[in-house]
Amino acid sequence: MKLSVKEIKEIFKPKLLPIIWKNDTLTILDQSLLPFQQVYVDLKDVDSVARAIKTMQVRGAPAIGITAGYGMVISLLNKKPSNLDEAIKELTNAKAILDSSRPTAVNLVWATSRMLNTAKKLIEDGSVKNVNELIDELKKEANKIFNEEYEAEIQMGLYGLEKISDGDTILTQCNAGGLATGTGLGTALAPVKLANALGLKVSVIAPETRPWLQGSRLTVYELMAENIKVTLITDTAVGLVMYKGMVNSVMVGADRILRDGHVFNKIGTFKEAVIAHELGIPFYVLAPISTFDLKNSVDDIKIEERDPNEVRTVRGIPIAPENVEVYNPVFDATPPKYITAIITEKGIIYPPFIVNIKRVVEK
Ligand code: MRU
Repeated sequence: MKLSVKEIKEIFKPKLLPIIWKNDTLTILDQSLLPFQQVYVDLKDVDSVARAIKTMQVRGAPAIGITAGYGMVISLLNKKPSNLDEAIKELTNAKAILDSSRPTAVNLVWATSRMLNTAKKLIEDGSVKNVNELIDELKKEANKIFNEEYEAEIQMGLYGLEKISDGDTILTQCNAGGLATGTGLGTALAPVKLANALGLKVSVIAPETRPWLQGSRLTVYELMAENIKVTLITDTAVGLVMYKGMVNSVMVGADRILRDGHVFNKIGTFKEAVIAHELGIPFYVLAPISTFDLKNSVDDIKIEERDPNEVRTVRGIPIAPENVEVYNPVFDATPPKYITAIITEKGIIYPPFIVNIKRVVEK
């Protein structure tokens, strides 16, 4: 049965609303407090938006892109520039602040560039005559980024469904669900959620994803809210569950995908991919086209390193000598040879990635 995006919108209603834009106010669900507290916070200026991204109150590649898009609108609403030249200066400044908040996910710079370029184009071709008109158009553009992301996820979910059978168990990594995308659906978790909504029996194995625990705090919370069977494991149990035949396929998200098929995603993804490859388990990456970076090469990409105390402690409780030296990279790069296919809203990309990524992304 082939379903359309419209039909899926009728069948699947997201249970979580992590990013809300209403009456010119941006409100986010603070992911640093989940699942213990559900607190929504208003982000009132560009600095608070950048801080929320940096401290991961909002996280996940598409979600930080969407948030930054609204952040660009907030910069104009706050500063109220007196003319269009001033507005472009303000947007350029806001973009620099937002872009520097986290380095690895490309969706952030993609979204701020899209907002700034849209503003420049609207002014150049005379579509807007004053700052108020520009703000109105940029609000529409930010909403468009959100809506396009949601529709892309539905489409990815539909393609991903082709890779799922009734009774399957999917291993994931981190949280690539609706919390990570801001829409309530997700990328890697979209096929699972759609399968569940269509009555298939599917379950997920979620590694806890040290040190920030996106798996145990967010993926588990999100799937339990959808009544989807989920089993939490330690990161160190990944090899065993695959070896024991408990996993039918691996589905993960991505923060950046290069033209040759290298996939940057949460630390631990590389290890899952190598083990899956060795054991003949399909390894799928699900990501929207906004996650592709056709310009850079592996060595150009900065892998974010976070506070060593994230490793020395677990949510504030010490688990190592106070002054132990720590290395805390939070993303890794999975080489293309370990990836079975990359699932996007424009279709499923198979190897050779060096040829097929460019063809699909530029389609
Ligand atoms: O550090 P995070 O929590 O922002 O990392 C998130 C991930 O690595 C996700 O897998 C990725 O952003 C894809 S989200 C749909």
